Amino acid sequence: MKIAFFELEKWEELSLKENLKGHDLFFSNDELNEKTIEIVKDFDIVSVFIYSKVNRNILSKFNNLKAIVTRSTGFDHIDMKEALKKEINVLNVPSYGENTVAEHTFALILALSRKIHKSYERTIRGDFSIDGLRGFDLKGKTLGIIGMGNIGRHVARMAKGFEMNVLAYDIKKDEKLEKKLNFKYVELKDLLKNSDIVTLHCPYNKHTHHLINKKTIRLMKKEAYIINTARGGNLDTEALVQALAKKNLGGAALDVLEEESLIKEEIQLLSKNFSKGNLKNLVENHLLLTFNNVIITPHNAFNSQEALQRILDTTLENIYDITKKNKLRNLVK
Ligand code: NAI
Repeated sequence: MKIAFFELEKWEELSLKENLKGHDLFFSNDELNEKTIEIVKDFDIVSVFIYSKVNRNILSKFNNLKAIVTRSTGFDHIDMKEALKKEINVLNVPSYGENTVAEHTFALILALSRKIHKSYERTIRGDFSIDGLRGFDLKGKTLGIIGMGNIGRHVARMAKGFEMNVLAYDIKKDEKLEKKLNFKYVELKDLLKNSDIVTLHCPYNKHTHHLINKKTIRLMKKEAYIINTARGGNLDTEALVQALAKKNLGGAALDVLEEESLIKEEIQLLSKNFSKGNLKNLVENHLLLTFNNVIITPHNAFNSQEALQRILDTTLENIYDITKKNKLRNLVK
């Protein structure tokens, strides 16, 4: 089969070559986009990461695409409706980094609670004063987890290690888990009202778009912190900027941003497809960078050596399932 891989690193290419002998392979560290699609129009399988926007236009250019194998858990970068219509299977990596993303979430929480980012900035300048670096304990504080799935439950487990109280909001409840990890399911508004730190771990879709918005952010305690390692669109950036500017929030730590690909590649400003809507997000993201109680990491929560190896292993399993016409274990439905 003809299989194309985008957004790939060299070490991944070597491993894929070794494991997919006999197939016609194409590798690129670029994204799949309007330009690169031209090379792979006739391919059977395309594998991407999250910066390839597999939209309607891109899908319309493939002649016999059978499957999209995304090397991620989230699949909001793929037009699922259009893929379904065209009978293109979408396979993902449902669980590779639940502990990995949870560990990054705690790295962010601890960075905020102990002002690690500010301390580091100071000591590399040779300044060892501690004025303004007083933090707060996690022990006894309440952590509100939105989305108690694979990642959320690892965050809850870690929070218990810090002797925190844990509240959770999820559209599905697992009472066994609630008992086992000793947390409490509550409604979203109660979670927001009662948490000292709120962390997002739900998927991004039309129901979770701006789940935290001007109205819901107002319910949070004035000194509370918000952590987002899910997707930028779960959190209304304008609402966050306003809450921070008015000191209605203690701070934020974000691994994901709305329109994050734009702040990564500002050259896109010159593209004819650039819309004013994007510009608003870009300005808001720049504003976020100016607050000293905001920490931003560059969508890096998944990025541990172990997690990347697990992604590659599952991607290979997904490709075997397609090429050998097995049951598709990780088909996105
Ligand atoms: P999961 O599917 O195991 O868990 C998601 C949980 O959210 C489920 O329990 C689900 O019932 C719940 N949920 C769905 N809709 C909801 C709603 N409207 N309100 C409240 N809860 C809702 O997914 P997992 O593996 O825990 O990942 C969560 C998200 O984290 C992914 O969708 C992805 O966007 C993001 N992610 C980010 C990474 C990063 O590097 N920053 C890496 C991996 C995932």
